[in-house]
Amino acid sequence: MKLILLVLLVSVTACNRGKFTEGRMFAGGKAVDAATLNLGHTTYLEYCVQCHGLAGDGKGVSAAGSYPPPRNLTQGLYKFPNVPYGELPHDVDFHRIIHKGLNGSAMLPWDISDERLDAVTQYIKTFAPQTWEGADKVLGTKIEPTPNPYGEDKRVEAIARGEKVYHIVAQCTTCHRAYASMDQINAWSKEINGTEMAGMDETIYQLKLQDSEYNYKVIPPDFTYHPLRSIHSTADIYQRMLYGVSGSGMPGWKDVVSDDDLWALTYYVEDLMKLKNDQQARQALMNRIETK
Ligand code: HEC
Ligand code: HEC
Repeated sequence: MKLILLVLLVSVTACNRGKFTEGRMFAGGKAVDAATLNLGHTTYLEYCVQCHGLAGDGKGVSAAGSYPPPRNLTQGLYKFPNVPYGELPHDVDFHRIIHKGLNGSAMLPWDISDERLDAVTQYIKTFAPQTWEGADKVLGTKIEPTPNPYGEDKRVEAIARGEKVYHIVAQCTTCHRAYASMDQINAWSKEINGTEMAGMDETIYQLKLQDSEYNYKVIPPDFTYHPLRSIHSTADIYQRMLYGVSGSGMPGWKDVVSDDDLWALTYYVEDLMKLKNDQQARQALMNRIETK
């Protein structure tokens, strides 16, 4: 009896002290103390557990039927940090994603104190120790944005170049849909490659579901229709294009297209996004596409 009481007493005190009694050493040589992890743990139980689950596996009570599903945080793979495909996010990436949320998904913007924001960032790393623990683990590369060759006064020029890069040079239509008539696409193709676009058919106007590393198929968005998860500004579009969306099939485009063309694509995508709030203009574009 005494022993049982003692065991009970010990576990209650352990509980009061929190889940963690020791700190952790994370990627990038980041030492985090137990108090921070415990604050992160209580923050997580308050705000995150219903979707991401007690075990961090994305199977919380509110997860059922959600598309996209909540991230399985035990995988240690993240879509929207500003680092190259598959590399490890910096704390600022987690802070931004958690603070701003992901548009058009159940992941809302979380208005919590800076202290709790950082604590929960550290805590979620403990779900993927294979990825995060150890001083030898390195954080992803941060690439300096190249100077914007266009800017506000050359917006029209940027968009005109962007639509050619989108349909011909980068062929974003292998996953996303086209936003120009086939005649127009063939004319651009002749101008840039000297020949018409090979093997083009109606599928160019469809969104092609992509297999992902997240155990579900991912839809490449229609920019004139879908909310874009990580985009809150022009610069965000540039960053996303630079780095891609890890694990979803959406590659990073640095070194695939020129730096200037990356900016042209940015303005073009932004221009398409405006049609979301302008049904008339969107319909006019769809009508232009139909007249071959
Ligand atoms: C109502 C459900 C819900 C709650 C609550 C929620 N999330 Fe999420 N979270 C999601 C969904 C859904 C996604 C996946 C979005 C996607 O794949 O586009 C996500 C994605 C994430 C990601 C991955 C980001 C990336 O780049 O891949 C992180 C990290 C994350 N959430 C952390 C948190 C934290 C921390 C909290 C609590 C402060 C929280 N979430 C609360 C639904 C939720
Ligand atoms: C191999 C397929 C593939 C190709 C090629 C591709 N994308 Fe994507 N793209 C995707 C997928 C899948 C997503 C959705 C990712 C998600 O939300 O999980 C996406 C998302 C995006 C987003 C939204 C990011 C966000 O924050 O929601 C933008 C912008 C984008 N792509 C632009 C482009 C542009 C421009 C090109 C051509 C230069 C391109 N993509 C080529 C598959 C592709």
